Amino acid sequence: MRVVDLIEKKREKEELAKEEIHFLLSEYLKGNVPDYQMSAFLMAVYFNDMTKAELLEFTTLMRDSGEIIKFEKINKFLVDKHSTGGVGDKVTVVLAPILAALGLASTKLSGKGLGHTGGTIDKFEAIKGFKFSSSKEEVEKIASKTGIGLMGYSDKIVPLDKKLYSLRDVTATVPSIPLIASSIMSKKLAIQSDVIILDVKVGDGAFMKNIERARELAKRMIEIGIGFKRKVRAVLSNMDEPLGYSVGNAIEIIEAIETLKGNGAKDVKEVVYTIAAVALKAKGVIKELKDGYRKIDEVINSGLALSKLKEFIAESGGDENLVNDYSILPVAKEKLEIFSQNNGYVAKIKAEEIGKAAMIIGAGRATKYDKIDHSVGIKIFKKVGDKVEKGEKLAEIYYNDEKNLKNSKEMLLDAYVLQNEKVSGQKVVIEII
Ligand code: URA
Repeated sequence: MRVVDLIEKKREKEELAKEEIHFLLSEYLKGNVPDYQMSAFLMAVYFNDMTKAELLEFTTLMRDSGEIIKFEKINKFLVDKHSTGGVGDKVTVVLAPILAALGLASTKLSGKGLGHTGGTIDKFEAIKGFKFSSSKEEVEKIASKTGIGLMGYSDKIVPLDKKLYSLRDVTATVPSIPLIASSIMSKKLAIQSDVIILDVKVGDGAFMKNIERARELAKRMIEIGIGFKRKVRAVLSNMDEPLGYSVGNAIEIIEAIETLKGNGAKDVKEVVYTIAAVALKAKGVIKELKDGYRKIDEVINSGLALSKLKEFIAESGGDENLVNDYSILPVAKEKLEIFSQNNGYVAKIKAEEIGKAAMIIGAGRATKYDKIDHSVGIKIFKKVGDKVEKGEKLAEIYYNDEKNLKNSKEMLLDAYVLQNEKVSGQKVVIEII
């Protein structure tokens, strides 16, 4: 078999046989296929897509390139929620304790933030002493006790994805739906769970800029799940403004805690409640999502969900008192207030711009080698649909270093799109598949 023939076949829109995909990926993993040939193949996939059979085989080989984790010791319904990446996305920090309080457990691999999007690892690492579990045994121990089994990134799970993603990143082949679907799903399939819930973000601050592409990505990931006989659900949610009111690490932990105390932003609650109810329905506990909302309210109002988060923080090496004393979290030294230069109604807050404005002051990473400052970030005071008067406060930037402050301020002002007519606040959950 010759790699050049496989590239030609994909270029000519012919279907590759199982053995051909197996040959290509296994030889690539061994270092026997040069990056220039794999790049050409990926570009051919970018233009010509993959058939269902190709996608399943491709994903199987990706999954099998590393360890597969099974949690024999956690005797609970396991939920793996995955977000395709957003701005201000603190859903996992709120959702995992709620699921735990409802008697379910989260088992998932958490990610680090890159570019304008944040990552769950960075948010929890804002807590002094907090250490993510890095082995299956540690996750099992903490999840059995608390119901929260979040695992830090591991090189041992789907190493082929790491290799391919680095290549896609420099060959303009990241935005290919079959490649994104197999990349995400191979990592989900490598970890045991009873349901995989995909939060597919749509809009300005998301990978998928429009609903059609988001729906297509969700459907392809579900197609893979069905092929592997796994339960997969997808929630399409809007990312045309940051989620909630804070973008940063320590400040997002505070917002997540406030949500667990019953003071959550409407949009954060809508996403969290929907996903938690979808999980309960997948377990068979409820028939209608609205029955789940009542149960979620109960575990928030009783304080049980918050106590699950406290337990998880303590088990992971952090100080659980921070849920009542935010000064335990790192705090930025300086604050800059940003005021509106016009009157109007907020029509949109470009989430990608806000994510970048937070990134350049240190809340995120431009490259994976950058160090982040957990204390900095942006708090927004006006959301889509709100009325704004000239001179009214739009946002606050928390910073330690003035280096990129001016740019950050300009990006923030540019992110706010005002219009004269009143706009209704948008629905965040667009569709459930
Ligand atoms: N997230 C992933 O894990 N992989 C992709 O290809 C895109 C987003």
